[in-house]
Amino acid sequence: MDSIAITGGARLNGVIPISGAKNSALKLMAASILTDQPLLLTNMPRLADTKFLGRLLGELGVSVEERDGADGTETLFHAREITSTFAPYDLVRQMRASFNVLGPLLARTGHAKVSLPGGCTIGARPVDLHIQALTAFGAAIELAEGYVSATAPTGLRGAEIEFPFVSVGATEHALLTAVLAQGTTVLRRAAMEPEIGDLARCLTAMGAKIDGVDTDVLTIEGVTSLNGADWSVIPDRIEMGSYAVAAAMAGGEVRLSRARPELMTALSEKMVAAGVEVEPTADGVIVRRDPAVRLKAVDVTTEVYPGFATDLQAQFMTLMTTAEGDSVIHENIFENRFMHAPELARLGADISVHAGEAVVRGVPSLRGAPVMATDLRASVSLVIAGMAAEGETTVGRVYHLDRGFERLEEKLSACGADIRRVKGDGHEH
Ligand code: UD1
Repeated sequence: MDSIAITGGARLNGVIPISGAKNSALKLMAASILTDQPLLLTNMPRLADTKFLGRLLGELGVSVEERDGADGTETLFHAREITSTFAPYDLVRQMRASFNVLGPLLARTGHAKVSLPGGCTIGARPVDLHIQALTAFGAAIELAEGYVSATAPTGLRGAEIEFPFVSVGATEHALLTAVLAQGTTVLRRAAMEPEIGDLARCLTAMGAKIDGVDTDVLTIEGVTSLNGADWSVIPDRIEMGSYAVAAAMAGGEVRLSRARPELMTALSEKMVAAGVEVEPTADGVIVRRDPAVRLKAVDVTTEVYPGFATDLQAQFMTLMTTAEGDSVIHENIFENRFMHAPELARLGADISVHAGEAVVRGVPSLRGAPVMATDLRASVSLVIAGMAAEGETTVGRVYHLDRGFERLEEKLSACGADIRRVKGDGHEH
């Protein structure tokens, strides 16, 4: 199994290009099921998760062609004919977003059988709201032996759905399904994450009729069929935020390019309050920090967008480990998302966790050690910690990292970080 080895202490200076957003790409890929025309996604991130969903789509009959385009990597999806409507446990268990093929399969063919995603290390993460939405559209749903079997022999009908609380996954799934349902759908208390806006705009380019994009009420007028489209995936705000924190932690000056700084306002405000310089540019942001000056502790609470993203909580906690004073971090979205805290403690951080709250007492410095990645965003927080720690840190289980960060070692070493991948056989790359 690969690990990442880091020798801490190097400053970061240079430019890091930001890739397309994983969390958008995965939902846009599911949209390819909705049409028999080709959907070309440009600015596609090359990640374990996108490869994985590509494989599932291939099983369903979608042709998936990766190629180099003018705007970096791109992938052409063409669901000329759906040859299977079955998504087996093995393919859904490894990545939750696979579950979102259920609604599009149902909308396109009238039936589908998709495995429930199962547990996940960052909490229970149920899909009850997804299923309630599909039921509201008139689908007959049966749950048996870990599978959801859904049929809609007479087609899906639009519905008024008020989500009891904000869910990114359920909003996307309902939107992906409603575009082909007959009549009007209104989704209230919809999530407003920028990746949902990206999906809605791509669906509109495919011929869907959607009102209220970027608000918490989406109104969808169903159409009978959709076209193909060419769509550029929105830049990854979580990747951008992660590298912004990395630059702040290591010190130096990094320009994040091909990015959208307005999508990380909640993080920027906290970084500025801690003493980091954050300067928006035409296509990104410059992050600057004098490593001789200690940062100040600030508190954060994770919220739905536009609040502070749960996907940036682990990284920000890392930044606070060496700040001056105590920082209180509230995790509101997932009950079990502090698994990185004991790993950070191995590097010398002082963190206590009680239920959904972590208190980080800043220490003057961290010291390298072997640590284990526990989930995708936690793993990048350990890499960031390793870059600032004295000596050598190795991060194990980096398959988590490969799910969501494209060419991470390459991007960071181009800015001066001493970071390399150690293959399972012990060879460095
Ligand atoms: C969430 C994050 C998203 C992040 C992703 C991966 C929020 C609002 N969402 O999205 O930003 O990128 O994790 O870390 O910050 N829930 C149910 N029933 C459902 C669906 C969800 O109870 O059917 C609960 C979840 O367990 C969770 C909350 O609702 O406590 C929000 O979930 P949701 O937004 O759907 O999660 P993801 O789409 O995974």
